[in-house]
Parts: sequence; structure tokens; C-alpha cells
Amino acid sequence: MEFADLVRRRRMTRDFLADPIGDSVLERVFEAARRVPSAGNAQGCDLVVLNGPAETTRYWDAALPASRRETFRWKGLLVCPVLVTVWADPAAYVARYAEADKQRTGLGAGSDAWSTPYWIVDASFAAMALQYAAIDEGLGVLFFGMFDHAPSVAAALGVPAGHEPIGTLAIGWPDPGGSESPGASAGRPRRPMFDDGKAPVSMNPLVHRGRYRG
Ligand SMILES: Cc1cc2nc3c(=O)[nH]c(=O)nc-3n(C[C@H](O)[C@H](O)[C@H](O)COP(=O)(O)O)c2cc1C
Repeated sequence: MEFADLVRRRRMTRDFLADPIGDSVLERVFEAARRVPSAGNAQGCDLVVLNGPAETTRYWDAALPASRRETFRWKGLLVCPVLVTVWADPAAYVARYAEADKQRTGLGAGSDAWSTPYWIVDASFAAMALQYAAIDEGLGVLFFGMFDHAPSVAAALGVPAGHEPIGTLAIGWPDPGGSESPGASAGRPRRPMFDDGKAPVSMNPLVHRGRYRG
């Protein structure tokens, strides 16, 4: 798919078929995450992948109690065949920046020394790359937060202490007959690109030319 089409077509999917995803398709998707840039080439992102209902159930058991599934708004999400949980490892960055070539940055002193937590930046890049690669395969994706369930998900999946949750990606074939109700936020208009005098004053443009206008 042309990249411009990919960017335009990317929307979150919340209604999936239960059909499995072939290993070679999944490997191409994961390869996109392996190729993202990372600060100091620290590569401190981990993906814990749950493939098939026997594994995805372990996620839902930790994140969505059975009593709440009856009334859950997006039933087509619960059948999604693959869940990818994305984690960032601050210790990998602190260790990398304590190495000789990075010592002058002072960032090897500890995660508190970082004004921008690059482990979050890099793992978010990986999550985005996964989304585009999956959509390029004809798959649908939903990125969603773990919120206060992150500790129970981490425990259920054996994620080492210190790893920070980025979110979960549901990846599966979109259900063409799904009755997906859009996400609560989906109706918000995209911000204008520039301040061209036409956009409502309340809509701050994305691109501020020369200096911030807000
Ligand atoms: C960091 C992040 C967290 C999100 N969390 C959720 C979520 O918990 N539940 C959900 O249904 N959608 C979630 N979304 C999806 C957004 O609601 C969605 O991207 C936004 O409304 C724009 O719609 P679109 O992606 O279809 O263009 C999240 C997206 C991001 C980037």
C-alpha cells in the first residue's frame, strides 16, 4: 500500500473476526517494531504477545473482570486473536547511557535524570510502527491503555519489575459485518495544519510556523 494511503486509512478498529493471523504475517509486523530508532540504540522495548484465545484470555482475565464483560461495549474486541502488550524498560536506557561514550550526558545516573523519558518515546515509536505494518497487511488495530490494570497484566504475563506499560495493541482481521460503535473520541475533528485564518480560533493549529501561536 502507498504510504500516503496507509496514513489516510489508519483508524482504530474495535470489531474483529476471531480468525487467526499467520505466523509470517505477524513476523512482518513485529519486524517493523524491531526496526524503529531508539535513543543510544538502547532498544529497550519489549512486546509480550498473546496469540489465540487460550492466551488472550489471560490478558482479559487480568484487565477486564468476567463480571464486566457482559456489559462491555466492544464485544468484537474480546474475540481479537492477537494482543500485543508494549513495555518500556528504563533500566536499559540508564545502563546504556552509563557506558563510556554516553557518560558525559549524566543520564546514566538514573531514570530521574532524564527530562524526556526516551524509553517511552522509543516504545511508542514501536507501537506506531506495529500499527502501520499491521494495517499494511490488511489487518485492523486498536491501541488502548492498560490503565490501573497494568500491574495485574504485568503479573499475569511475567513482565519483570521496573518495566513501564505503554499500552496494548489488538491486532486482527476487521469484521466487515461488525456493528462497531465509534470510539467516544473519534468524532473530534482533526486540528488544522496551519493557522490559515479559516479555522475556528478555538482550534489551535498543529504546525506553528516561526513561533508558537496558541
Ligand atoms: C495513547 C492512546 C490511548 C488510547 N486509549 C484508548 C482506549 O483505552 N480505548 C479506546 O477505545 N481507544 C483508545 N485510543 C484510541 C483513540 O481514541 C483514537 O486513536 C482517537 O479517537 C482517534 O481515532 P482514530 O485513531 O480512529 O483516528 C487510544 C489512542 C492512543 C493513541
